[in-house]
Amino acid sequence: MLNNTALFRQACYLNGQWVDTELCLTITNPVDQSVLGTVPSLTVADVNRTIEQAHAAQTDWAAITAKARAKILNRWFALIEANVDDLGTIMTLEQGKPLIEAKGEIHYAASFVEWFAEEGKRVYGETIAQTVNTNRLSTIKQPIGVCSAITPWNFPAAMITRKAAPALAAGCSIIIKPASETPFTALALAELADQAGIPAGIFNVITGDARTLGAPLTQHPLISKFSFTGSTQVGRTLYEQCASTIKKTSLELGGNAPFIVFDDADIDKAVTSAVQAKFRNGGQTCVCVNRFYIHDAVYEEFLEKFAAQVGKLRVGNGLEQNTDIGPMITRRAIDGMQVLLDDALAKGARQLVLGNEVAEQGNYINPKILVDVNDTMDIVHEEIFGPIATLIRFQDEDEVLAQANNTIFGLAAYFFSQDIGRVYRVAEKLESGMIGINTGMISNEVAPFGGVKQSGLGKEGSRYGIEDYLTVKYLCVDIA
Ligand code: SIN
Repeated sequence: MLNNTALFRQACYLNGQWVDTELCLTITNPVDQSVLGTVPSLTVADVNRTIEQAHAAQTDWAAITAKARAKILNRWFALIEANVDDLGTIMTLEQGKPLIEAKGEIHYAASFVEWFAEEGKRVYGETIAQTVNTNRLSTIKQPIGVCSAITPWNFPAAMITRKAAPALAAGCSIIIKPASETPFTALALAELADQAGIPAGIFNVITGDARTLGAPLTQHPLISKFSFTGSTQVGRTLYEQCASTIKKTSLELGGNAPFIVFDDADIDKAVTSAVQAKFRNGGQTCVCVNRFYIHDAVYEEFLEKFAAQVGKLRVGNGLEQNTDIGPMITRRAIDGMQVLLDDALAKGARQLVLGNEVAEQGNYINPKILVDVNDTMDIVHEEIFGPIATLIRFQDEDEVLAQANNTIFGLAAYFFSQDIGRVYRVAEKLESGMIGINTGMISNEVAPFGGVKQSGLGKEGSRYGIEDYLTVKYLCVDIA
């Protein structure tokens, strides 16, 4: 199935070596739970040793020029692009997303490497007007040191490069713990990092029990910066763990994205965007829509057109052509959705019959649309993380803004309007880190990704993304 079987690694990549252990974790395909392979289950002692090696290696990496680091990172970028088919296949096998989406994610992942290779060359200090004539004041920026990251299963490649590329470009080393469900994409990226010539100890991939390995990654004194993408609940715990050694922390956490369609919207555009923003990756992204607010005047038109498009989505194995929604990552994830669904139905929501329903077995769940949804239902307040769309009617702008902002989350929000005054008014009032206006697709490497409120801290991608891996040092020179 792979053109280059060397990409399928069942060992950890530590200090430039492939390391195996007797104790292993078994990785399965979410399609049918068949075994794909095993990865090592490392101990805390293994991780501590890797951190020390990453610390020793980092000094030399920081000492070469940003241009020299960019050359190596650009080789990594080219190798990722050249292996897009195999990387996509590995991702679909372990994560389940349709192959076309998996390959799209590989290009997305590669784009962070290319972007940050160049951004590394644009790390600027500044001069500051002195307060005393005999002083000269300036700042320089330096790599923060050894970094660690825990990355999620929903984007097995892009969430790694979005953290590792700025770290490496800045002159840091990094230890990545990929999600236990999807380690093979991470290990394939490590194989390509090795081929690209990233020196030993600079990019490391560890595998094993998340709780056990999370402790050294968040508490080891040699680690200066920790980055996490995942749920708000887990993020809170990891943030607390980082407090003991005062680590710089980036957290990209849960969302509860509203999608508002005003009565002056282009409805056809809103419908197409709604399908993308809700059902991308089977609804398993933190920027996926959680709540649709549709103005009363356009509600029926929107619903009819939306249901027609959702009714065409096909659920199946991501390796099969024409699949739009692959299996969910685990059965447990579906059980969680069922609890939200049952609560909503018990409180008066109605589920539409779409006509494309298949037997829901294993990790498969059909796309669903719920109408007559209201604020008393848990599904409005909790992240669904699956292919269930909830529709709520509204009458006026202030009312919908209050509802949209009535959440602890503030990651992404979307709205559709052709009134320029409303566009700015609503964009300024929505409490979210990212706003899609007349679009449902907002993610790319050049824009700052990140939330407000309990959706996280820091920005990834863009020119801001490298700042988290740098420290600002102030120089005060007395020239008298
Ligand atoms: C995520 O769900 O964590 C990332 C989504 C994206 O980059 O678009």
